[in-house]
Amino acid sequence: MRVLSFLSPLAVAGAAAATLLGAGDPPPSSAFLSRLPDGVEKRKFILDCTGCHQFDGRTAFPEGKPRTREGWEEAVHRMLRYAGASTPFPVIAADRDPAKTAAWLTAHLGEAPPAAPTVTSPPPGAVITEFDHPVARDLPHDLMVDREGRVVITGMFTDRMWILDPATGRFAEERIPLERANPRALDIDPEGGWWVLLGAPKKLAHFDPRAREWKMHDVGMYPHSIQRDARGRIWFNGHFTKEPELIGYLGPATGSVRTFSVPNTPELRAGAGPIPYDLRVAPDGTVWGTELHGNRIFGFDPRTGRFRTFTLPTPHSGPRRVDFDARGVLWIPEYAAGKLAHFDPKTERFEVYPLPTRGALIRHIDVDARTGDLWAAYGASPGIPPKIVRIRRR
Ligand code: HEC
Repeated sequence: MRVLSFLSPLAVAGAAAATLLGAGDPPPSSAFLSRLPDGVEKRKFILDCTGCHQFDGRTAFPEGKPRTREGWEEAVHRMLRYAGASTPFPVIAADRDPAKTAAWLTAHLGEAPPAAPTVTSPPPGAVITEFDHPVARDLPHDLMVDREGRVVITGMFTDRMWILDPATGRFAEERIPLERANPRALDIDPEGGWWVLLGAPKKLAHFDPRAREWKMHDVGMYPHSIQRDARGRIWFNGHFTKEPELIGYLGPATGSVRTFSVPNTPELRAGAGPIPYDLRVAPDGTVWGTELHGNRIFGFDPRTGRFRTFTLPTPHSGPRRVDFDARGVLWIPEYAAGKLAHFDPKTERFEVYPLPTRGALIRHIDVDARTGDLWAAYGASPGIPPKIVRIRRR
């Protein structure tokens, strides 16, 4: 566990060095990304190439030297073999071209890596505590705080669940009784039960922490995001589904799964997928979803079975996780565009808020239900000086 306390303004003068984050670190990804010209091509690059790993010095300037055009071409070919549109993990768009990508990168990245890293200081008085995960190779994907204040975490690469006790800094593990369980998203219900999406096994699992009992349900698709509605139905989406793109729910009382086909994204070329991303149930019961590559949001009314779809105003903006305000107005972070979209379901119109800092890479936002203020974290890591932003509408 690493606790970083940031001093009050009075104490800062004498001990400034100790309050800085980033000193001695390598240059952040934003220093490399800022060399690429803004526009559609860059937004598409961010979507295709920064979802798994950063675009940092290790990627762009191995051992401090620029990667050659051939080197880039070879690397992109390799990435397409892992995650191209026709692989089982198709997160890279179908039109990603190794030769064109290599030419574009070498034309703009330059001969020498960027110099000094950005050094930042959090607000005085803040205490930041980092808890070291016991298994370095794990990918802690989603987390949620339970009723006792423990943090429940999905271990995507260790195939198990982790429970962090913030008081002691200890991690306990909870094994999932399934080979290669691949847990990703999580929701905790009012009774304290965990609902866990298992990606590769295409299952929705329920865990009762009191009885220590797991129950598995087949959902027939690689699920990505999860949320329980007011009637107790557990909604999920199919991350790689296309033609038809699918969402569905499990009825816990019956254990049966129902699925619904989202209207096809018109502008996608054959082979590409919309990459359904977030899924949230609005206060009025409408199920809203985002499409990371399809660049749309959709709203599904379970009472009428009707879908409505809306294309975001910025092409290839990369909408990720959304939130609602008390009136059910949606806020959508445009990950690749450095903007926030505000969508009013009454008027069905978008407003776009450009952010003051470039390279913000917003993944996740939260709306303060009491004030209606929108809070967001700039998620370039490492990147621009980390910032939290509040947006208050007139
Ligand atoms: C599905 C996850 C994923 C995506 C998406 C992805 N990568 Fe990678 N990338 C990896 C992994 C895993 C490695 C390490 C293994 C390797 O080098 O083959 C890696 C390594 C690399 C390397 C280092 C290779 C070397 O030889 O040192 C480069 C360069 C790279 N990626 C570029 C890209 C680019 C450009 C894109 C977008 C077209 C991209 N990556 C998209 C997973 C991904």
